[in-house]
Amino acid sequence: MRVSNLYTLLFSAVLATTFFLGSCGGNADASRGLSLIEASGCQTCHKMEGALIGPGYKEVAQRYSGADAEVVTQLTNAILNGGSGNWGSVPMTPHPHISAEDAETMVRYILSL
Ligand code: HEC
Repeated sequence: MRVSNLYTLLFSAVLATTFFLGSCGGNADASRGLSLIEASGCQTCHKMEGALIGPGYKEVAQRYSGADAEVVTQLTNAILNGGSGNWGSVPMTPHPHISAEDAETMVRYILSL
């Protein structure tokens, strides 16, 4: 019993540390996410608010609020491979030159809006 308690304690400590580091990283990621969006030509089709060719980022954040890791992956893939049918009949073009990591940073920024 005592050994398993120790493991529980250790596990919670690791979890708390991960969460703490994760949320610090999250803030740095958010401003990086915005710079990446500005540098990647996303604004041709997206505004912060309101539909342009694609949906506004705030609408995206609203639709996926409380998103889990699976949704983050799904949206990251939509940026990388293109997507269609979720917002209308206009598809999003693929962005194969963007790294998966950068695309995910952009998604996390958008979802934070
Ligand atoms: C050529 C126009 C175009 C460009 C450039 C573009 N998008 Fe999109 N985007 C769209 C359209 C259109 C949709 C809606 C697709 C749909 O209905 O599934 C969309 C959807 C999205 C979604 C929501 C996907 C979903 O499944 O709900 C995200 C997130 C997104 N874009 C982010 C980005 C980011 C970040 C960039 C820059 C790397 C970018 N887009 C560049 C047109 C574009």
